[in-house]
Amino acid sequence: MVPTVAQTPTRPQTERIVTPEGVPDLTGCFPHARVIEPDKRAPAGHATLCDPTFFAGCGYMTPEEAGLLYRIAQASPKGWWLEIGTHTGWSLAHVIAAGRDAVGLDPEYAQVSHNQTRSPDAFLKRATENLQRVSETVAGSGRFKLLGVTSTEFFADATLRPFEGRPAGVIIDGDHGDPHPVADALGTIATLDPPVIILHDAMIHAVQRGAFALQRRGYFTRTYRTAQLLVVAWKDPAWTPPAHVPEAGFDWKNWMMTRRLSYVPWDWPVKDNAEGYSRWDRLVNSVKLTIRSGKFRRPKGA
Ligand SMILES: C[S@@+](CC[C@H](N)C(=O)[O-])C[C@H]1O[C@@H](n2cnc3c(N)ncnc32)[C@H](O)[C@@H]1O
Repeated sequence: MVPTVAQTPTRPQTERIVTPEGVPDLTGCFPHARVIEPDKRAPAGHATLCDPTFFAGCGYMTPEEAGLLYRIAQASPKGWWLEIGTHTGWSLAHVIAAGRDAVGLDPEYAQVSHNQTRSPDAFLKRATENLQRVSETVAGSGRFKLLGVTSTEFFADATLRPFEGRPAGVIIDGDHGDPHPVADALGTIATLDPPVIILHDAMIHAVQRGAFALQRRGYFTRTYRTAQLLVVAWKDPAWTPPAHVPEAGFDWKNWMMTRRLSYVPWDWPVKDNAEGYSRWDRLVNSVKLTIRSGKFRRPKGA
C-alpha cells in the first residue's frame, strides 16, 4: 500500500493534499515534500509541493495535474515516456505508477546551476530514491532512468535513449523561458515524433508559444484549466485525451493573479485568457478535423 501524507508523521496536517480519485497517492513516496508557502491556503488539489532542500523556486505539478498526467499516460498508445525537467521526480513518478517505462532529464543531476545550491549528486540521489519508493510500493510500475543532460543534448544523441522503440509521450517541463518551450516542442517532433506531448505551466507565454508550435505542425491540443494550465497535444484524430472538469466556484483569476505575478504580465486577464485559449484549442481542432475528414476541399483550379 502506498503511504499517505496523513501517515507521514513529519508532515503537518496543514500540508495535507488531496489526490484525485482513481490516482494512486504517491505523497508518501516523497517524504521531503512540503507545500510551497504561497499555496498554503490553496484548495487541497491545487496546492504545489516542493522539496525545500532543492526548491530554488521550482515547484511540482499540482496533485490535480499529476493525476491528469497519470491518466494521460495510462490512456496513451504503447511506448515509453520522456520527461524534460524531472527535478525530484514527482511528475515522472505518476508516469511510472501508470505502468510506463520512463526516462527523466535534468541537467542539474550533473552540474550545479545558477539557482541550485545543493550538489548534483544529492539532487540525483533524492530523485532516484523517491522514484525507487514508487517502484517498490506501486505494483506494476514501469522502469525509470534519470539522465543529467539537457533536452537539446538528449535530442542530439540517440544512444542516450534507454528504451527500445518509439516513445508514447513526452512531457515538456524544463526551461520555461523563451525560446526553450518552442525548441523543446520542435526538437521532440523532429527526433522522437511521439503521438502525445504534454506542456506544463501554459500560463507562461513562452510555454503557450510551444503549444502553438505544435498546433501549427498538425497536433490537436487541449488546455486543461488547472492551477498552472496543462496542455496535452496529440496527433491521432481518433484519440481522445482524458476528460477533466475544472473545479467549480474556484476563483481562478484571483488564484493566478496573486500567486504567479512573476510570470503573468499585469495586463493579461488570466481567467479570460485561460478560457479563451481553450476556445482557441477547440477552433483549431475543429478546423483540422474538417480538413482531415475531407469536408474542406480546395476548389478545383484554385
Ligand atoms: C518546474 S521543474 C520540474 C518539476 C517536475 N516536472 C515536477 O512536476 O516534479 C523544472 C526542472 O527543469 C530542469 N531543466 C531546466 N532546463 C532544462 C533543460 N534544458 N532540459 C531538461 N531539464 C531542464 C530544471 O533543472 C528543473 O529541475
